[in-house]
Amino acid sequence: MKSSFHHSVVAKRRVQALEKKAHTYTSKLLRYGKKNDYSLPESSLSVANDTKYQQSIKKALTRFKGIEHVVLVGIGGSSLGTEAVYAALAYKTSPTLEVIDRVNKESLMRLEEHIAGIKNSSRVAIVIVSKSGSTTETMLNAVKVMAVCEKKYGDACYAQTIFIGDKDTQFLKMGKKKKILCFTIPDIIGGRYSVFTAVGIVPLTLLGIDIVSLREGAIEAVSKKNLTKIETSAVTLSAHAEEGVHTVNFFSFNKRLEMCGMWYRQLLAESIGKNMTTKGTSFQYQLLPIVSSSVDLHSMAQLYLGGYKNMYTHFVCYDENHPYHAPAKHWLLEHVSFLRNKTFDEVNGAIREGVLKAYDDQKLPYRFTELPKCSAYEIGFLLATLMAETMYLAHILDVNAFDQPSVELYKKHMRVALGT
Ligand code: PA5
Repeated sequence: MKSSFHHSVVAKRRVQALEKKAHTYTSKLLRYGKKNDYSLPESSLSVANDTKYQQSIKKALTRFKGIEHVVLVGIGGSSLGTEAVYAALAYKTSPTLEVIDRVNKESLMRLEEHIAGIKNSSRVAIVIVSKSGSTTETMLNAVKVMAVCEKKYGDACYAQTIFIGDKDTQFLKMGKKKKILCFTIPDIIGGRYSVFTAVGIVPLTLLGIDIVSLREGAIEAVSKKNLTKIETSAVTLSAHAEEGVHTVNFFSFNKRLEMCGMWYRQLLAESIGKNMTTKGTSFQYQLLPIVSSSVDLHSMAQLYLGGYKNMYTHFVCYDENHPYHAPAKHWLLEHVSFLRNKTFDEVNGAIREGVLKAYDDQKLPYRFTELPKCSAYEIGFLLATLMAETMYLAHILDVNAFDQPSVELYKKHMRVALGT
């Protein structure tokens, strides 16, 4: 994965000062990475390299053979990582993935129809993920999904069900009573950083994703050599935040990478969206993450290029090796003859070039990241890089990357509304 930085608006001296701060964090990560005892939340960067933990997942899943449909119940950090990796890597013959995250009639009706059409329960895996074991949306959906499967398959559905959560939760205890296979998440690792724990690894294994390569990419991303590159990107972003940048646009040129943007949106929002610094002062460099794709060139580009201030864009892409090209002759080509014989890759390349040149013309700050290809290794590398970069960013800006105190505010009112 190669990244380049363009049109920086920050002073070199400030960058140097922030670099010093970033170096201290690198030393901490390297020191800690060696022992990896799950005493720090940064363990999410080394869990992909915890062979014992990863092997135990693989071993426990060996009895799940020939899965064709995975139903994933979970929300936020408990589902977005799986969705991002699956969207990037699934192919025609991959098992299907049905994500039940929100409280929504349509997705449950679709699930009922889907389950009704699957005779053999051994083709289905139901994965219910909740770190806390108490998220209202997830628990409600879990009850409904279990009821649908119990009605169709009887007790046989328990052998096809997996619960994933924190070890002492009532949720896992109840699962164990039903002899449901249960996996734990290291306590210290929060939802948005959990894609390389059982939260992502279990459903992704069932979905046929190449976990070995995914993990290898994640491990390589946080090697000493790459941490230096991550320092640079985090320093660049923090320096822009200090200069007034308040919007970070994850702009994916490839449809397969869009869900990675949605996953990153949560990561950045929950990690940096704080009102207090770790020093107890008020925090002023909040960053609003947004996700864009090349379709947005026809809806949002006017705003992006037409004067919207203080946005930092992260363009991400890979070459698709598209098998299609426009024909030499077709009646519709008469008024667009410049497209004659053009491959789809050529056209995509030209769109990309056009966008970057337009950003250059306007001197808008951006980073351009190119993946050599869309493989499990590269996706593992990308996600782990973004996780580490977000931790650096929080360290440099003095906020706690790992808590989310304000999410509790809506939950308090919701519980009152539900009469709990
Ligand atoms: O990152 C987070 O902490 C959140 O997005 C959680 O993942 C989300 O709220 C779901 O929580 P839980 O896994 O406890 O059901």
